[in-house]
Amino acid sequence: MPLTPLRALPLALVLAACGPDTGDDTGAPASTGDPSTTQHSTSGDAPTSGDASTGEPSTGEPVGVTYYRDIKPLLDARCVQCHSAGNIAPFALTTHAEAAPFAAMLSAAADAGTMPPWPPDPACRAYAHDVTLTPEQRDLLREWTELGAPAGDPASEPPGDDTPGDDVVYDVELQLPAPYLPTITPDEYRCFLLDWPKAEDTFVTALDVVPGERQIVHHVITYAIEPQDVDAYHALEDADPDPGYVCYGGPGASAESVYRVPWLSAWAPGTPGGAMPAGTGLRVQPGSVIAVQMHYHGLPGAKADQSKIRIRTASKVDRPAVIMPFTNLDWVLGSEPMHIPAGDPDVMLSHELDITPYLTFLFPKGPFKGTEPFVVHAAGTHQHTLGTKNKLSVVRKGGTGDECLLEIPRWDFNWQGTYPFAATATVHPGDRLRLECHWDNSAANQPVVDGVQQPAKDLGWGEGTGDEMCLGMLYVTAQ
Ligand code: HEC
Repeated sequence: MPLTPLRALPLALVLAACGPDTGDDTGAPASTGDPSTTQHSTSGDAPTSGDASTGEPSTGEPVGVTYYRDIKPLLDARCVQCHSAGNIAPFALTTHAEAAPFAAMLSAAADAGTMPPWPPDPACRAYAHDVTLTPEQRDLLREWTELGAPAGDPASEPPGDDTPGDDVVYDVELQLPAPYLPTITPDEYRCFLLDWPKAEDTFVTALDVVPGERQIVHHVITYAIEPQDVDAYHALEDADPDPGYVCYGGPGASAESVYRVPWLSAWAPGTPGGAMPAGTGLRVQPGSVIAVQMHYHGLPGAKADQSKIRIRTASKVDRPAVIMPFTNLDWVLGSEPMHIPAGDPDVMLSHELDITPYLTFLFPKGPFKGTEPFVVHAAGTHQHTLGTKNKLSVVRKGGTGDECLLEIPRWDFNWQGTYPFAATATVHPGDRLRLECHWDNSAANQPVVDGVQQPAKDLGWGEGTGDEMCLGMLYVTAQ
């Protein structure tokens, strides 16, 4: 089904319209080495109860797995960025006293693959910054649990860097204009506008969020509002008596202004450093404002938040990038409405399209010159709360086989991300992007409001929490 330029426009609208979107860094976090990866081998090499052959110095330290020598480095590398005091996870794992009582639970979550949160299916593709635990790390947690979670000798803790690496040097720092305490529970989506300080065209090559009140900051999505739309956005802000303005769907309220909104990044707790793939960056014009959508998950006793955004800029990059939304416009525009019938426990919808002929319509300011291959560096998908799984892939021209870009086998609205690829994928003219989404719209899977489970109803495309979506997002450059 061919796209006309006119029909192509709302695609960007859709992208901007699904507020609580990716939970990860759109901009493909730094490809610089992750010290926690090195940590694996430290942990993995540590002697375990069945292996005393590694010649541990005679400190009287037990040979079996201990907290200080084996478990603390693992938890520090993979868990404490969320599991620490005042942070988003419900309990801390920073000391032996905190971790030991949970040993069996930690091991079970590790074995089940539910912690740390990392939704992509590894069988689909390899990603940079994959945080899933190695089999050796899981073994360590299991053996530690079986031994009764011993502390061991504090002196045996391996030296070294426990914090996830981020050697990016940021040159722009923007802070929310005022401390804000969310008033809508349990979730509030609020946008703030921050002036963009650069006087010439600039590329964003890294973006990181420094949450103010970690306990309540669930997602932060950052958009660059182009100069011609800035007044309309300030009007939204002026109309809201509190700092910023309420924005569930995206950063804007009117279709005319929203369809041009370019994404810069999406961040969630635990996201490693925010560098985009080397040599690439997203263009921001002078006179733009940065709209920041905060997803606050309220907790009693939380303090006001005043998060910061840190940005690294460059005056030019080798390959300007864009964030390309991918979905079926017929679902969006209603010409072939998305239909998710009430009562069906596994509704599947899919869409395939050779997108290359439309790239210049979608991105009139570049970087594409015509029908030419494009390169995908990172991908994310988006559904709302009844989504169960989704997959984004490339169907090769001539039936030479599909290339999986991203598969989320257990969709969880709370852990959305955009995942940087370990190796890029090139899409050629004639190749088709393919997106597939599944939903459980059975009676048993409906939301509970005030203690009452709601009846199942037919669902379609929309921006509200009671609507659904099926959307792919790709961080793309020209070849
Ligand atoms: C990105 C943030 C994040 C990271 C990293 C993380 N957790 Fe969690 N964890 C959470 C949150 C939030 C919860 C509360 C339940 C939920 O929202 O899923 C949780 C809950 C848990 C639970 C109880 C619920 C369950 O799923 O069993 C365990 C056990 C757990 N985490 C273990 C770990 C371990 C072990 C690690 C490191 C290997 C880890 N977590 C890393 C955020 C995180």
